[in-house]
Amino acid sequence: MNASERPDTGLSLDGTGVRLRDPKPSDYDDIVKWTGPGLAWQRYDAPWEPVEPQADTPERREAFGLRCEAIRASGLPRTRLEIEARGSERHLGWVNRYWVDERTGWLEVGIDICEETEWGRGYGREAMELWLDYLFDVLGLARVGLGTWSGNARMLGLAYGLGFRPEARVRRARIVDGIHYDAVKLGILRDEWRAVRDRHVHDVAEAGTVTVRPGPDPHLLVVWNAGYGDPSLPKGRIEPGESPAEAAVRETAEETGLRVRLLSTRPVEVTGVAVEHRPWLRRRISFFPAEPLGDVPEADLHSFRRPPGEGRAGLGGSIAASSWLPLLQAELAFRQPECLAALTKLVRGPSGQTV
Ligand SMILES: CC(C)(COP(=O)(O)OP(=O)(O)OC[C@H]1O[C@@H](n2cnc3c(N)ncnc32)[C@H](O)[C@@H]1OP(=O)(O)O)[C@@H](O)C(=O)NCCC(=O)NCCS
Repeated sequence: MNASERPDTGLSLDGTGVRLRDPKPSDYDDIVKWTGPGLAWQRYDAPWEPVEPQADTPERREAFGLRCEAIRASGLPRTRLEIEARGSERHLGWVNRYWVDERTGWLEVGIDICEETEWGRGYGREAMELWLDYLFDVLGLARVGLGTWSGNARMLGLAYGLGFRPEARVRRARIVDGIHYDAVKLGILRDEWRAVRDRHVHDVAEAGTVTVRPGPDPHLLVVWNAGYGDPSLPKGRIEPGESPAEAAVRETAEETGLRVRLLSTRPVEVTGVAVEHRPWLRRRISFFPAEPLGDVPEADLHSFRRPPGEGRAGLGGSIAASSWLPLLQAELAFRQPECLAALTKLVRGPSGQTV
């Protein structure tokens, strides 16, 4: 799954370039910095309202840490998530929401990328996409609204680019640096968002291995995602700067604890839908044939192992366990069409013979 929620790290919504996640105690440093005076983002987000500086005291820090824990434990729909760059894990800002009238599902969203050097790099767009997906999904909304002002061209560009429509304009309702601007209200309906999403199919690049322990009774290395009864092949997202082959080896090691050697640099490519209720996310997976580095003791063939770090979150959810399965048994147990396709293409020839 592309959304994951774990007791230790909380909620995480993963895009290609950004991740939305619950706050963590170390975010407090950024919040102190960003609520300090004179930062560029404050000139665009409601500049007529003073920003309340966050004091850097031990008590405030402790209170923030406790709030982080409470949010993770609550399991409630989130009212704010932090934006982080994937790969570097740079904290960029946040998305938030508030009710205009909860009784009628009237909600508005907001976004701030607080480092000026990070503007115009596509982070805002993807963060807002993830946030809209999440809100329409978990709150079952009919509409999401957004308020800004006519001087905020970047915010208006972002909103129009996502399919928001102008709904109201209150002329000369804002004054910034002595100049009158209009207050602008925009909105997007559930069906409009769905139509926008259907037009934009995102490819999510992943890589994995079909690792076989050779011999008279070949066994296949498989993993179990937490909460799923059927096994699948070790695989996961290709990180920025990584080659598909590197990602395949890394994902296999992370998900199974086993180091493997690729038998070919030429993968087979299979495609599938990443998450059932997000049909616009299409996963394109490069599967490499591989074998374990070193011998696999006979005893290991009949045991389960937990991956290091108790599994990790990703498109496939967290991995609960891995093990070796006789080839035929694995083939019968697989449900994911991508895994069956990879197995058929890499291990069994067209006639059904093991190659
Ligand atoms: C507004 C903000 C969230 C946009 O995020 P961003 O990461 O800079 O924007 P992106 O790079 O994702 O660009 C998104 C869209 O905005 C548009 N855009 C970007 N810069 C623009 C500019 N200077 N003028 C007009 N449109 C612009 C682009 O058309 C882009 O659309 P596209 O993806 O179809 O090309 C961010 O700049 C920000 O936080 N600014 C300061 C605080 C703020 O204004 N918050 C909103 C308060 S209402």
